[in-house]
Amino acid sequence: MRTIRTVSELREALAPERRAGRSIGLVPTMGFFHGGHLSLMRSARAECDVVVVSLFVNPTQFGPNEDLATYPRDEERDAALAEEIGVDVLFAPSLDEVYPVGFTTTVSVHGLTEVLDGHPARRGQGHFDGVTTVVTKLFNMVQPDRAWFGQKDAQQALVIKRLVRDLDIPVTVEIAPTVRDADGLALSSRNVYLSPEERERALALSRALQAAEQAVAAGERDAGTVLAAARSELDARGVEPEYIELRSADDLSPAARVDGRTLLAVAARVGRARLIDNTVLGGA
Ligand code: PAJ
Repeated sequence: MRTIRTVSELREALAPERRAGRSIGLVPTMGFFHGGHLSLMRSARAECDVVVVSLFVNPTQFGPNEDLATYPRDEERDAALAEEIGVDVLFAPSLDEVYPVGFTTTVSVHGLTEVLDGHPARRGQGHFDGVTTVVTKLFNMVQPDRAWFGQKDAQQALVIKRLVRDLDIPVTVEIAPTVRDADGLALSSRNVYLSPEERERALALSRALQAAEQAVAAGERDAGTVLAAARSELDARGVEPEYIELRSADDLSPAARVDGRTLLAVAARVGRARLIDNTVLGGA
């Protein structure tokens, strides 16, 4: 595996591969790899000739009161894990390489970014502007045939699919299922912020999703009743959600009933960690 830090070197490495007709897969990440990242890399490895993993902690998607300064980093460990999976290129650019002096462009997706995490009282539209701008840049830098994202960040996945469709970016977006610990906690780089006691409380999120899944499996369709089942699990562990909402899994419009694919999304702060999780209910 090669670690590459500049766009020109990256282009030089990938041009002959592209000319030879080899498919290129991209897994964009902010590093501190866990099983979720690794599953995306394994899928890309299984399905593409050349696998590029980007590692860039993107400052523009962090709000002023968020954890940019303390976001966990360990490039050496990340490189070893990626190499084990058979990743070809770890693209780890510097801040200046991605945002050179005078950088003034923003790519904004509207319509999906004003709710849930994008709500002005939460991470806000600026978070998704940061994501869509950096992902557009990564797509242009790598020019992958396919790119992998996780369902763990369901809203981000929808926003990126919309970005690619709206701007005719020639990449196929693949969404991989959420990887969880054995007890149900969704893997996240931010789980390192949790003390053992907080980690236990953090299980409230996945338990809430499971309670909703059970209610739907038992035939419940009313949004209020399904949400009440989920909320009781949060209450049981003293976790106050930032939001817990049912929305269309296709366009994030509000759902009054679980008819068709319905996204149940939850966000909550547990100790220092802001955690999100979701499940799709009522899908075929
Ligand atoms: P990061 O949080 O590092 O996540 C990188 C990718 O891993 C994302 O597509 C995310 O959805 C996926 N992922 C995270 N946890 C997962 C889990 N438990 N199971 C499956 N997939 C999981 O998301 C970002 O970085 C950034 O916003 C990025 C897209 C790189 C733009 O900066």
